[in-house]
Amino acid sequence: MLGDGIAIVPTAPERIRNRDAHYPYRYDSYFYYLTGFREPEAVLVLAGGATPQSMLFCREKNVEREIWDGHRHGPAAARETFALDAAHAVNELDARMPDLLADRPAVHVHLGADAAWDARVLGWINAVRSRSRSGVAAPQDIRDVRVLLDDMRLLKDEHELALMRRAGEISGAAHRLAMQAARPGATEYEIEAVLQHEFRRCGAQAPAYTPIVAGGANACVLHYVENSATLADGDLLLIDAGCELDGYASDITRTFPVNGCFSGPQRAVYELVLAAQAAAIAVVKPGARWNDPHDAAVRVLAQGFIDLGLLQGTLDAVLEQESYRQFYMHRTGHWLGLDVHDAGEYKVGGAWRELRPGMVLTVEPGCYVRPGPGVPEAFAHIGVRIEDDALVTAEGCEILSSSAPKSVADIEALMRARDA
Ligand code: GLY
Ligand code: MN
Ligand code: MN
Repeated sequence: MLGDGIAIVPTAPERIRNRDAHYPYRYDSYFYYLTGFREPEAVLVLAGGATPQSMLFCREKNVEREIWDGHRHGPAAARETFALDAAHAVNELDARMPDLLADRPAVHVHLGADAAWDARVLGWINAVRSRSRSGVAAPQDIRDVRVLLDDMRLLKDEHELALMRRAGEISGAAHRLAMQAARPGATEYEIEAVLQHEFRRCGAQAPAYTPIVAGGANACVLHYVENSATLADGDLLLIDAGCELDGYASDITRTFPVNGCFSGPQRAVYELVLAAQAAAIAVVKPGARWNDPHDAAVRVLAQGFIDLGLLQGTLDAVLEQESYRQFYMHRTGHWLGLDVHDAGEYKVGGAWRELRPGMVLTVEPGCYVRPGPGVPEAFAHIGVRIEDDALVTAEGCEILSSSAPKSVADIEALMRARDA
């Protein structure tokens, strides 16, 4: 795929949070996928051709800095440990890149993510161009390196799947504990702390995304992350939280009653979303198209909205006019992997992508009822989402997040047990 070309993949920069404090460091997913190397200030260069070469540029050993910031591999140990053909100090990058780019027909880079990085790459290419009178050719093609990598990342190997299964188990356990910790008068942030504690207790390095812990009407704010309210008797609690384990994300949403017992209208909406999710999961199998789970979920939800009196008209009209979007306005899933919204196109050549064994996607229908004209009072402020992580297998799919209960009976039984 690389031909005689060359790929340049930097890791993520460290970012300042405020003054001397940094955000927790997270490597770039493409870089990590190719290297397994977690230090900042590193660049991978892959040169194609008759003798392909992998070359890492990383920080040198530095006794003084290692006292303050911790271990650095340094190029020699990094080359050995990460099975690379060569490694150099990262401060040699600008000096070495023009030679590495000379006479390469194509350079594969991630342009457009960071203006300073783009300028640096173009500077190297211009440095090669300036030598053209000595017979050296600069790359004529600048290509998006993600085109090469996205399809690889889409199909998970056994090592990746083992991590994703474990991440799913840890997150499922955290959701169970959150259900047992919830009660009227508790706060959303206390429940968030329960989740985060379990993630770290089990060795996950971080949440894969900012947890959503949304009581009552907050569940109707799709990206609610304030997590600051007190939970009220009679409200639902929607939790969207998953850990990241060795780079790999899990992504689980559960919705349950704060007091442990669904009310009639809450249960009606919940059972509808659960049925929509079951319909979507049933079509996750090899040969299905990316959009099939979404279409299946929407069909069930649309009919349910009519049956509950949330919408009027026929199923065909609700689907045609997309009036279901008043209560279900997001997609039913996304790829899952190193990134919570993982790499990979959803359409190929204009058609929805075909599912294949080894792909991992989320299945996450929901229903969010904001009060408004014609909306029955009984359903106002109810927000429900149920989200699982599905691995496409030869026969159908394996749910990686099944340790988090989701039937009404299982949730109510677990919550009754908290008081026992
Ligand atoms: N937690 C992010 C998402 O569900 O897409
Ligand atoms: Mn998701
Ligand atoms: Mn989610």
